[in-house]
Amino acid sequence: MTAVLRITHKFRNVCHHAYFGISIRTCSQKEVLRQGELHTPVMVNEVLECLQPQPGQVFIDMTFGAGGHSQRILESAPDIKLFVLDRDPVSYSIAKRLAVKFPGQVEPLLGRFSELPVLLKSHGIRHNSIDGILFDFGCSSMQFDVAERGFSVSKDGPLDMRMDGDRFPEEPTAADVLAKVDEEDLVKILKVYGEEKQAKKIARAVMEARYVFKKLETTSELGDLVASVCIDEERLDKLQRHTHSATKTFQALRIFVNNEVNELNFGMIIAETYLKVGGKLVTLTFHSLEDRIVKRHLLGNVIDNAINPLPLKYTDSSLWYDRNEVDSVLHSNWKLVHKHVLTPSTEEVAVNPRSRSAKLRAATKVTNSFV
Ligand SMILES: C[S@@+](CC[C@H](N)C(=O)[O-])C[C@H]1O[C@@H](n2cnc3c(N)ncnc32)[C@H](O)[C@@H]1O
Repeated sequence: MTAVLRITHKFRNVCHHAYFGISIRTCSQKEVLRQGELHTPVMVNEVLECLQPQPGQVFIDMTFGAGGHSQRILESAPDIKLFVLDRDPVSYSIAKRLAVKFPGQVEPLLGRFSELPVLLKSHGIRHNSIDGILFDFGCSSMQFDVAERGFSVSKDGPLDMRMDGDRFPEEPTAADVLAKVDEEDLVKILKVYGEEKQAKKIARAVMEARYVFKKLETTSELGDLVASVCIDEERLDKLQRHTHSATKTFQALRIFVNNEVNELNFGMIIAETYLKVGGKLVTLTFHSLEDRIVKRHLLGNVIDNAINPLPLKYTDSSLWYDRNEVDSVLHSNWKLVHKHVLTPSTEEVAVNPRSRSAKLRAATKVTNSFV
């Protein structure tokens, strides 16, 4: 049997089981709004300790999700004013409900980090004026748990993965990306965004599947295809639980579809622009790529508003920088609150396994800009 036939044969077999063997529970958007109430925010006590909300202060929750962190910030001191941003229209609906619960205190904003300056301008918010900003990166439980959103390998649904939902109908879905991307680019996406060791094998399988089948349309089609080429490998997560061999592929595609790396980079620049001197930044990241970008911003390893592709010590040794250039490149407007990242307690991980890979960094803005 040729490689293509072997893969497609396995692929068909697993697809067959997926379609006829398992009944998968899906939730409607209404259920999601209800789930918002059940969402457990990650490291919420540590977040509050770092933000130290005081009466009358102004905060931005850059990643509102189901509003778990926002609600706790509002409850932590009187008269807090909170701008809450999310690119997902489902989260925006939940934010509007929170605004009713805390009249005059919550300003729901629908948009991406990169859209925030325009949204804040319409509310008259100026640079260097905010007391605290929180980022809780990644996907919300509502995105992962709703099969129709296409984020989860364990829930059969369309391969969508757009956090913006239908806000931009022309925006490509994960299925569109897989239908168009060339093999070399797919290998890069899987390696860089998913840290996937089997990137080449998986990209080849996607190309072969594309010629043999119609477009890959569903999460189970992609999950089964990846499983069919990563057969010899047992994958475990941080809690030593078995994970699907396509988990990293899904992460990589999600990051690509949502332009998450550029958004994160932009978000960090916006946070620095809008926080006042003495203002607090708290970030929660869930994989090493996100954490590395946050760390580079906090340490000042950013050139021309783009994160440096390499740690500075590895840049071309034949290049000579004068003292001022080195100082300007390594300058940071941030002072780190902790020497090392904070991670969730074992108790929290036991109650909320989704917190297992969280890393919290906190910093205070100490100067306005480099002079
Ligand atoms: C992990 S969830 C936040 C959960 C929230 N802290 C809570 O307690 O419910 C991350 C949220 O950030 C949103 N998000 C991710 N990237 C974004 C971006 N670039 N702009 C705006 N929202 C974004 C996602 O849509 C998602 O709802």
